[in-house]
Amino acid sequence: MSVTPTLETDVLRRQDPELAEILLAELDRQSTTLQLIAAENFTSPAVLAALGSPLANKYAEGYSGARYHGGCEIVDVAEQVAVERARALFGAAHANVQSHSGSSAVLAAYAALLRPGDTVLALGLPYGGHLTHGSPANFSGRWFDFVGYGVDAETGLIDHDQVRTLAHTHRPKAIVCGSIAYPRHIDYAFFREVADEVGAYLIADAAHPIGLVAGGAAPNPVPYADIVCATTHKVLRGPRGGMLLCGAELAERVDRAVFPFTQGGAQMNAIAAKAVAFGEAATPAFTAYAHQVVANARVLASELAAEGLAVTTGGTDTHLITVDPAPLGVEGRAARGRLAAAGMVLDCCALPYGDARGLRLGTAALTTQGMGEPELARIGVLMAGVLRGDIDTAGARDEVRELAGRFPPYPR
Ligand SMILES: Cc1ncc(COP(=O)(O)O)c(C=O)c1O
Repeated sequence: MSVTPTLETDVLRRQDPELAEILLAELDRQSTTLQLIAAENFTSPAVLAALGSPLANKYAEGYSGARYHGGCEIVDVAEQVAVERARALFGAAHANVQSHSGSSAVLAAYAALLRPGDTVLALGLPYGGHLTHGSPANFSGRWFDFVGYGVDAETGLIDHDQVRTLAHTHRPKAIVCGSIAYPRHIDYAFFREVADEVGAYLIADAAHPIGLVAGGAAPNPVPYADIVCATTHKVLRGPRGGMLLCGAELAERVDRAVFPFTQGGAQMNAIAAKAVAFGEAATPAFTAYAHQVVANARVLASELAAEGLAVTTGGTDTHLITVDPAPLGVEGRAARGRLAAAGMVLDCCALPYGDARGLRLGTAALTTQGMGEPELARIGVLMAGVLRGDIDTAGARDEVRELAGRFPPYPR
């Protein structure tokens, strides 16, 4: 099934050409540029079909078998399938698949375990913590007393000694491990140990690595954390959304924290799409995909290092790479702009040292398109060439268009 013909012949094109054109323009943008944003991916046509299904019409407050609305007998089954697939995929006693987003999942985890004013230890925002890990602009920073741990300025690795010292000094109610930009595996056993030493809950915000976990390419936080929060998009390649995993003893608290405490009616089309994505993620093809994502990231990281960019932590264990382009004579924001003009779309990020911005990139989307090590190595050369000014932007843009054209995300 292909997305483009569906859209072109679709009722939307006849009824609302203005919106249809916008959707097609976005499909064209995604198909003719390189999506290097670490949090993005291409969901399958089957996931998109579930998202665009009549399940979008259904109100379903509550949980399977205990809804506040009538007519839920079919969507109940969809949610049961999603929950069972998530439990099996991650080896969790309990899964809640209703969170509308990763942030909603983190909010629910806090709601399940904390009271306003509690102290929480999490990776500081300047080192790759998410907004929900204590930003003053977010509910987390407003309602809880966050203490931030950091990374070593030299190695870029989480400063485990500091985590332990801060935990013993501040006695937090919860410790959060997880990041928007950390390229290495997180040592969940270490965090569990420290949490136990100070009597804290451990919350793993595995939004980024959870797809790699599903494919056996990253360690699973489920055996260590009291609650695992995650997104279902990113490497996991499902619809935009969130989920929570936990043991049986916290199941009821987690469910109540999602509904009715922080959310109303579940989005049943998104839940069905999550079920489809979990089904895909349980296949050998997805295991191969997850390992290829990491292999591709390693090749890209080593190519960027060979070209002179400073790769944080010296490489990656995951889909995620952060680099400082300063050695090529350009700072992060300007670098992002130059690369975007050449059709390479990525984000800026904080660096372990100083105030300068770095670049954050990931290989999930390119790998879904079928690109492998040769293409990623070439993209590294192209990026560095554009940043140094050796390769002119228009030439790079043409090459990007040609490369993307050979690996269409939604073949016709
Ligand atoms: C570690 C982490 N937590 C939470 C989130 C929030 O997810 P969402 O954007 O779906 O709210 C993200 C998103 O990038 C993330 O990386």
